[in-house]
Formats: sequence, C-alpha cells, structure tokens
Amino acid sequence: MAEILNVGIDLGTSRSAISASNGERFVVDSFVGWPVDMVAKKVLKREVLIGHEAVSNRTMLDLHRPLERGLLKEGSEKDVEAVRELLKHLLRLVGVNGRRAGSNVRAVVGVPAAALRTNKQYLRNSMKGIVDSLLIVSEPFAVAYGLDALLHTMIIDIGAGTTDFCVMKGRYPTEEDQRTLTVAGDSIDTQLLKLIEERFPQANVTIYMVRDWKERFSFVGHGPERCLVTAPVKGVPTELDITNEMKAACETLLAPVSETMIDLLARVEPEFQERVRANIILSGGGGLIRGLPEALEAALASVGGGHVRYMDDPVFVGSDGGLALAMDAPEGDWERLSA
Ligand SMILES: Nc1ncnc2c1ncn2[C@@H]1O[C@H](COP(=O)(O)OP(=O)(O)O)[C@@H](O)[C@H]1O
Ligand SMILES: [Mg+2]
Repeated sequence: MAEILNVGIDLGTSRSAISASNGERFVVDSFVGWPVDMVAKKVLKREVLIGHEAVSNRTMLDLHRPLERGLLKEGSEKDVEAVRELLKHLLRLVGVNGRRAGSNVRAVVGVPAAALRTNKQYLRNSMKGIVDSLLIVSEPFAVAYGLDALLHTMIIDIGAGTTDFCVMKGRYPTEEDQRTLTVAGDSIDTQLLKLIEERFPQANVTIYMVRDWKERFSFVGHGPERCLVTAPVKGVPTELDITNEMKAACETLLAPVSETMIDLLARVEPEFQERVRANIILSGGGGLIRGLPEALEAALASVGGGHVRYMDDPVFVGSDGGLALAMDAPEGDWERLSA
C-alpha cells in the first residue's frame, strides 16, 4: 500500500501556496504562460512557464492568470489547462513526480468562496489525474482552520481578485456564513492607475508598476509618509507624489468591506455577536494595507465596538490550514477522483 501524501493548496488569484505532509512548503505567482509562436519557443526552450518566470517573460507568452476575479473563467479550456499546470507544478515542487502522481495524493484545495459556488466542477476537472482524493474548501475557511480560529471568529481574506469573508461557528461554514466581494487588490490597482493617469497624463505607467507601488506604500487614514515614486514622463525618469491617489485608491475598500462585515455580524446569533466582533482576523496580501485594522474598528464602533487584527504568516496560513484539514478529515469527507 503506497504511503499517503497529504497536501494543502491555497489557490489564489495572485499567489498559490502548497504545504505538504513531508514538510515541504512553496509559493508561486499564479501565472501560467505558453510560448506564443515558434520564435518564442526557440528562445524559451520550454513548453510552459509558471509563476514569476512566466511574468518576467510575458512578452513571449500567451499569459494566463486563471483565477482572475476569483473565478475560473467559464468555458475557457485554456484556463482549466492553466490551473492544471499550476497544480502539477506545485505538486512537483513538493516532490510528487510523473504521470502516476495521483496514486497516493490527497489534496485540500482552498479557493475563493465564489469559485467554490460556481466553478466547483471546473476545479474538479482540473484536478483529475493529478490527485486522487480531493476536498475543496473556501479560502477563508482554510485560513480559519490554520489559525485554529474555529469558533466565534470572522476571517476577512483580502486577495487580489476577491475579498472573502467567513464567520466561523465551530463547524464547516455554510453559504450563509460566507461572502465574496470583487473589491480587492486588483480593483485597487485599477483605480490607482486611473487616478495617476488623470493627475499625470504625461507619465508612462503600467499596472505592474502601480501594483509594486501599492505593495510598498498602501495605506488608509493618515499616511506615515509621502508616496514618492519614479516613472518616465516623455522618456525622462521623473519623481511623482502619488500620496493622495494611493489613499483614495486604498480607501475604495473601506465602505464595501465595512458594510459586508457588519451585515454578516448582524446575522450571527445575538448572544455571540460580541465575541465575533472581538475576533476579526484579516488575512491575504490586501490585509497588509496600513491603517486598515483601525479603520475597520472605527466602523465597528457604531455596532458596539470590536477588535480587528492581522495574522502573522500570511503566505502559508491558507495552505497550512488546508494541510491540517487534510490530516484531520475523515474518509467520508473526501471526494475520490478517478483518473
Ligand atoms: N503591502 C501590501 N499592501 C497592499 N496590498 C498588498 C500588499 N502586499 C500584497 N498586496 C496585494 O495583495 C494581493 C495578493 O494577495 P494574496 O493574498 O496573495 O492574493 P490571492 O489569494 O488572491 O492570490 C495583490 O493584490 C497584492 O498586490
Ligand atoms: Mg489568498
């Protein structure tokens, strides 16, 4: 009888992480690219590129970010294929090799809550022949499991494509316990790019530059410093002050996130609401925006006050949670996938 390898996979729009029961952990950018033509193939000498490599060679690639907006784009074969490549890559990184890879691998895959609802079949198809037992869960639930925050807590996971909410009531969360918004990291980038273009119409700025700047300077409320960046204006590197644009773009999160948070809280049984309010946990890259916990606490003041914190190991908390789930899940909770 082959030994079982358990893995937890956090399938994110922007980054995907894997934690395996053999102790290995890896994270990759969720990009998959195929060389566009014969020339590109000759330069790259590869059939497919994944992660950071794909992004940095993007001019030569048909580049896919298959979980964009938190959904596998329906009907797009290329995106299903891209997810397969991504999953195979992650499994190779933890030592699962070759075509027989699926014979003894059990995977818990955390995905945005909305993808769970509408794209489960696509995900299943993507996993066929790669793993043999599968459990698909929502990303914030995997985070909650990883933190052992299973009772009277709320997880707010702010990723690239979606912001996912989950209230934990000490059991598998149901539809009513979860919400997904498309206001998240990507929508901030789009907004920030637009504001910068309006303010500095001569400057040459790409969405990739804007994302870097955001990851360096993001804040809501009172910023600790000026956001000074450099971009070419008519070909000349020029310093731009984008402090106001940064604040405005990041603050587009505040109203929808506060509203959804308070709405979910209102649905918690009254005697538990205070405990949930005191246990709100931010995760995901977007949770790193400075001033965000304080701003959400200010919103909570109107419903009796609460406490919002950011957890420590944002990169692997979801995949570690998935792995913990894989170790704990009884046989009956798994889906068997035939190759
Ligand atoms: N310091 C930061 N401030 C604001 N946003 C950030 C920061 N670091 C990363 N991000 C953003 O977080 C998002 C990625 O978060 P992540 O949890 O990895 O997403 P996903 O689960 O969708 O892959 C991206 O939009 C990224 O730009
Ligand atoms: Mg994530």
